[in-house]
Amino acid sequence: MSDPRAHARELARESIARGDVTGWFERLYSESARDGFAISWVDLAPNPYLVEWLAGLRTPPRGRAMVVGCGYGDDAELLAKMGLAVTAFDISPTAVDRCRDRFPDSRVEYLVADALRPPQEWTGAFDLVFEAYTVQVLPGEARAACARSIGRMVGPGGRLVVVARSRRPDDPEGLMPWPLTRAELDTFLVPGLQLTSLTELVEPGDPPVPRFVAEFARR
Ligand SMILES: C[S@@+](CC[C@H](N)C(=O)[O-])C[C@H]1O[C@@H](n2cnc3c(N)ncnc32)[C@H](O)[C@@H]1O
Repeated sequence: MSDPRAHARELARESIARGDVTGWFERLYSESARDGFAISWVDLAPNPYLVEWLAGLRTPPRGRAMVVGCGYGDDAELLAKMGLAVTAFDISPTAVDRCRDRFPDSRVEYLVADALRPPQEWTGAFDLVFEAYTVQVLPGEARAACARSIGRMVGPGGRLVVVARSRRPDDPEGLMPWPLTRAELDTFLVPGLQLTSLTELVEPGDPPVPRFVAEFARR
């Protein structure tokens, strides 16, 4: 695969044109597993912004954690090592199988599920919800629907941490992954949840990548 990101964009384009906004993820993961090419977002390491966020806490998080769109599981494993009871899910069965293969002794509960139609029992069930780069790979109305669904998973006194590419409202939407605007962060705000911290940074690179690291808390 000469250009993994271009391939992912082509799969996304075809799938979305058919009206299937999530079908391309399993196709991408299963083709990658079969043909051995890289997936552009896979780096087989915990998200550095999650690592930094955890390092800045006065007291380590406790209780139940949820990792949304967990990919190959590195963020979930990090949280489990900190003593949290972690559930992690992805819409791609191949990605979830790979998590189980990579971490056979894991305490994480890995599940196949759709953030757009999550199980009822996840509502208000988690002390910490971590979302990195899932909403930004969805198009149109699925973005806000996914964000609301993620917001609803936070339990009383719990927190949600969101890491995403960012863009200014007047910037063009560009190509997948479609960065979030500041206004889109508000779509996570279900009743009881409020934005408690927002870091806007630019990750060095060619080109540099602007990002949001947002923390929400529920009363
Ligand atoms: C850009 S990747 C990010 C993966 C991982 N969070 C990371 O930071 O490396 C987005 C992930 O979300 C998953 N995904 C996309 N839509 C989803 C949905 N509706 N429900 C669950 N997972 C979804 C994809 O399969 C993919 O693994």
